[in-house]
Amino acid sequence: MSEARTDYAIKQDWSAYSEEEHAIWRLLFERQQRLLAGRACREYLDGLEGLGVAAGGIPDFRRLSDILDRATGWRIVAVPGLVPDDVFFAYLAARRFPSTCFIRRRDQLDYLQEPDVFHDIYGHVPMLMNPVFADYMQAYGEGGLKALRLGHLAHLARLYWYTVEFGLIATPEGLRIYGSGILSSAGESVYCLEDPHPHRLRFDLRRVMRTQYHIDRYQETYFVIDDFGQLFAATRPDFAPIYHEIAILPDIPAEAVLPEDRGYAASRPGIRARKKEGPRVSTARV
Ligand SMILES: [Fe+2]
Repeated sequence: MSEARTDYAIKQDWSAYSEEEHAIWRLLFERQQRLLAGRACREYLDGLEGLGVAAGGIPDFRRLSDILDRATGWRIVAVPGLVPDDVFFAYLAARRFPSTCFIRRRDQLDYLQEPDVFHDIYGHVPMLMNPVFADYMQAYGEGGLKALRLGHLAHLARLYWYTVEFGLIATPEGLRIYGSGILSSAGESVYCLEDPHPHRLRFDLRRVMRTQYHIDRYQETYFVIDDFGQLFAATRPDFAPIYHEIAILPDIPAEAVLPEDRGYAASRPGIRARKKEGPRVSTARV
């Protein structure tokens, strides 16, 4: 980036990617494709197919943006890395998705703390092909600008974390993944559905906003939505009274379960056609 711009937008410079960088994309793509069949939600898989994102190499953002724009009016903006909150929210509110351009190194295939182009494009952009989710992301951006003004960003950030990044959805075939942080992680794609350790709790807006999270390990708790309409409906009310209501309540540790939580059991590996709702969970630890 030769000069600083207040919107942090840069040029992707697709022709500058090396063969090694495209090869890393292929490795990541092919590994996730094998894992996500029967684990990712239909909306994500449809979006991926509709965009034509494939194993060939790192996609050209301009080509993806044209397809995305025709589907839901979103476009991708190349940025150098994480951007300040106000810039990020303003992009989402304008139906622009800020995506990093660089790809992780070969020795970072399994874990990278910061987002790279594989996480942003493979993980996030296919969901933006879905009209309801696309509207949810715009509403989130508008809500983010408001939360900044009200001083409640920490509460709203948890909603993003537990939905956009690490959300699960209940389908007639069982739990499926729609969160981008999971979709771009080989280990967590399996762990989130099949490991007996994490809690899988029914989505509740106030519960989510009060729940802490760890950024450096797999999640202790996942929240499960019934459909994307439910998620969008949850963002429709004015959050100001909700922030006011939860401000006096304690935060909930990432691993805690409350008496009123409703849980879902882990999927068993190889069994994809059963929705299993677990018993009422009642191990209060807060
Ligand atoms: Fe992300």
